[in-house]
Amino acid sequence: MTHDVNGDSAADEFWLFGYGSLIWKPPPHFDRRVPGYVTGYVRRFWQASEDHRGTPEAPGRVVTLIERDFWATLADDVQHHDSAPDRVWGVAYRIRADKVAEVKDYLDIREINGYTIHYTDFQPAPPAATTHDGQGRQQQQQQQQQQQNLPPTVKTLVYIGTPTNPQFTGAQDPQALAEHIYHSSGPSGTNREYLLNLETALDALAPPDSGDAHITDLCDRVRRIDRGSGGGGASAAVVSPVQEENHGVGKNHFRRRSSVVEQEETEK
Ligand code: BEZ
Repeated sequence: MTHDVNGDSAADEFWLFGYGSLIWKPPPHFDRRVPGYVTGYVRRFWQASEDHRGTPEAPGRVVTLIERDFWATLADDVQHHDSAPDRVWGVAYRIRADKVAEVKDYLDIREINGYTIHYTDFQPAPPAATTHDGQGRQQQQQQQQQQQNLPPTVKTLVYIGTPTNPQFTGAQDPQALAEHIYHSSGPSGTNREYLLNLETALDALAPPDSGDAHITDLCDRVRRIDRGSGGGGASAAVVSPVQEENHGVGKNHFRRRSSVVEQEETEK
């Protein structure tokens, strides 16, 4: 599924696949942003973060991709996280040709801490036929333009924290993981903001298919922890008053941002 860093140099375009923070916090100098998915992996919050959502003394947790065949050998199912959809949804960015070297330098700084470079085939999502809840007409038109004239698969660079990297945590008890995320923060912000932003961004990519049960389960647990602690702090960290949309009780105790575009503007 993956190829090493020298595995595919034939294409003259540089595409990057984001399945975590890159979905709502794009790299610089991209000229196309295409929602879609990769297969053969499982996304899990099993990578320790010492540099963005935690510190060396108190690492947070961020997502990595695990090769599905390897994941199947792990005890994830007995940890109640047996849902692992065949598609890992995310976003592919095409980087402007004159900026590729600069962006690679930027990504080296942004994405280290255990992650290494791999290549994988990305499948663009078919253009949406209808406007989805929470997705404005203009946003949908932009998305459709981005999805035109693409081949069925695009070779993308992807950062993966493999099971041999020192930050890989292995299978995590979901409740302990949610509590860990709830209490962690680092130079890029709180860990729960990262988690909740990821859920919102995934839900908006290609509804109703692009959500991820592992992410939503962790979000639900974090929202319950926040309610139990009489919180409010976490929701305050995630949204600004003008962006909030209250989608109801339960899952949406944290009011959610109304669009990925707004998130990108805020997070840049
Ligand atoms: C991502 O968003 O895909 C990502 C970000 C940092 C490290 C690895 C992956």
